[in-house]
Amino acid sequence: MAVDMKGKDVISIHDLSREEVEQVIDTAHILKMKNKLGEIYHPLQGKTLGMIFQKSSTRTRVSFEVGMWQLGGYALFLSANDMQLKRGETIADTARNLSRYLDGIMIRTFDHQDVVDLAQYGSIPVINGLTDLLHPCQVLADLFTISEKKGRLEGIKLAYIGDGNNMAHSLMFGGAKMGMHVVICSPSGFEPDPEVIRLSRLDAAKSGASINVQDDPAEAVKGADIIYTDVWTSMGMEKEYEERLKSFQRYQVNGALLEKAREDVLVMHCLPAHRGEEITDDVIDGTRSIVFDQAENRLHVQKAILALVI
Ligand code: CP
Ligand code: NVA
Repeated sequence: MAVDMKGKDVISIHDLSREEVEQVIDTAHILKMKNKLGEIYHPLQGKTLGMIFQKSSTRTRVSFEVGMWQLGGYALFLSANDMQLKRGETIADTARNLSRYLDGIMIRTFDHQDVVDLAQYGSIPVINGLTDLLHPCQVLADLFTISEKKGRLEGIKLAYIGDGNNMAHSLMFGGAKMGMHVVICSPSGFEPDPEVIRLSRLDAAKSGASINVQDDPAEAVKGADIIYTDVWTSMGMEKEYEERLKSFQRYQVNGALLEKAREDVLVMHCLPAHRGEEITDDVIDGTRSIVFDQAENRLHVQKAILALVI
């Protein structure tokens, strides 16, 4: 049974039902097939998505812009630096104004609350394109990628090695919703947010998933179907770069770590990668890596989200 998601905000996977996540994945599958067949599909003709960026982006910007175009709509790039936001206009007033022109907003910013406020004060769907806390579109695309590669999500063990950051948080929410076994392996002092641990465990109790947090990479990857990593220094934390480089040395995804995992383990990374830091060239370019299929799927999954909520 289809779930009606028109008008829905996509801010956190924790706020979506399991059926909604499944619907996004199923729709992405259909849209990917249409795309490969060269079929024209324009459900968003005459619709405009505003894309506010307060941080850099390659994949998110291009995949949303191309996705909107492929669906027959228009995407408007809005650099936060050039908006009145930068000169003190409130998020609430920005939301009220943009709701008069646009049919949806995608925003990438620092403070997660800004996205929540944009959704509260606006009257059009708001899609979170990454905050310091979460990156739901990336993880919805990751869930689609895992289901394509492994044929299922339930029971899959995913070991995330690295910073307990926005990626770790969304993987916890996504895995918990879909019955996966997620292990977050971070050095002391860089663990995920306790509230995200608590909420994801509530979801896990309903789905049969498990969420574990520990600090030993060799232990974490034992029996893992997926090893996932991300940069040690996220956008906005550049000042901590040197200190983080030292703290994360033991947390590199390299050939030696892969040998401790299942023979058919797949390696994922949301990208951009800092090659030689969190992941080595031989691993990211090796046979177990699916990072570019994963990146491609941002397009198909975000088209699904756009077609469902706008
Ligand atoms: N993974 C991801 O969101 O990439 P960008 O920062 O390039 O958008
Ligand atoms: N954790 C990274 C993800 C980039 C897509 C960051 O926030 O910079």
